[in-house]
Amino acid sequence: MTMQNLEQILPQAQRDFAACDTIQDLEQVKSRYLGKSGLLTEQLKGLGKLSAEERPAAGAAINVVKQGVEDALKARRDAILNAEQARQLAIESIDVTLPARSHGKGGLHPVTLTMNRLEQIFQSIGFEVAEGPEIETDFYNFTALNIPEDHPARAMHDTFYIDDKHVLRTHTSPVQVHYMQNALKDKSGPPLKIIAPGRVYRVDSDATHSPMFHQVEGLWVDEEVSFANLKGVVQDFLQRFFERDDLQVRFRPSFFPFTEPSAEMDMSWNGGWLEIGGCGMVHPEVFRHVGIDSEKYRGFAFGLGVERLTMLRYGVNDLRLFFNNDLRFLQQFG
Ligand code: PHE
Repeated sequence: MTMQNLEQILPQAQRDFAACDTIQDLEQVKSRYLGKSGLLTEQLKGLGKLSAEERPAAGAAINVVKQGVEDALKARRDAILNAEQARQLAIESIDVTLPARSHGKGGLHPVTLTMNRLEQIFQSIGFEVAEGPEIETDFYNFTALNIPEDHPARAMHDTFYIDDKHVLRTHTSPVQVHYMQNALKDKSGPPLKIIAPGRVYRVDSDATHSPMFHQVEGLWVDEEVSFANLKGVVQDFLQRFFERDDLQVRFRPSFFPFTEPSAEMDMSWNGGWLEIGGCGMVHPEVFRHVGIDSEKYRGFAFGLGVERLTMLRYGVNDLRLFFNNDLRFLQQFG
C-alpha cells in the first residue's frame, strides 16, 4: 500500500459512516476499516514489509489515520443514538397544550322528568312512593287483582310471558297487592296512601303505544275514602302537574276487574277531552286476596300513563320518540 491510499482512507470512512443511519449499519461499515481484514489492519500488516528506517514514520502515519477513523466512528455513533432518542421522545411526547375532550352536559330523560315531578306533587299531598318487581308472578299481575284465567289481558297477544308463571308486568296495579300485603305484615297500615310509578310491558307498538312504557299507580285505603276523594286527588294532581287551575277531570263508566265501580279518566285539553287513565274503588275481591277486611276498609285506585302526561306537557306527538335515543330530541329537555 502506498501513502496515497492511506490518505484516502479517512475521507472515505467519513463518507461511509455518514451514509449509515443505524448502529447496525455502522458496525458493518466499521469492520470494513477496523476489522480483522479491514483497510487499516491491512495497512498495519504491511508495515512488516518496510525497512527499519521507513517503519516508524509509516506506523505513525497509519495511527493518525486510525485515530481519525475511530473519532469519526464515535462521532457518527453518537449522532445516530441522539437521533434515535429524539425520535423516541417525539413519539412518546404528550402535547399538554391540546384542549381536553369535553364531556357533553347530561340531562334527564323527559319521562324521568315527569316521574320526578309527579312523585313530588303526590308526596306533597301525603302519598308515599312504592315500588314493585317488573317480572311478576301470575298471581300478583292477574289473580290477586281479580283477573280471571280467561281474561283477555292474560292472552299471549298482549302479555310478555317469561315462563308459565311469570310475566313482565302489564300494569303497575300488582304493586297495590304487594304493598297491602306488606303493610299488613309489618302492621304499618291500613290506612295507606301510595303511588307506584314504574315500567310496564305490553305487546303493542305504534305512535301512541310502546311495548315498554310507564304508569303511575295510585292507591288510598282507609275507613272513609270515597269516589269523590278520588276525583279530587286526580284533579288536584293534574291541575298542579299542568299548572292549569281550570283543568277539568271527567269520569266515564268503565270496567276493571280489580275496581268496582270503575271509570276511565279524561281531562279537558284544548276544548276537548283526553283519556289519561283508569280508576275505581278497590274491589272487595282484591281486599280478600291480601287479607284486608272490606267491611271495615275501602279504597280507591287509579293508573295514569306517564308517557301520555309527558306528551301533553311537552307537546310531543309520537310516543316512540321517547325511546329512539335521538339526542336532537332528548337535548330539548335539558
Ligand atoms: N291497571 C289499569 C290499566 O293498566 C289501570 C287502573 C289502575 C285501573 C287502577 C283502575 C285502577 O289499564
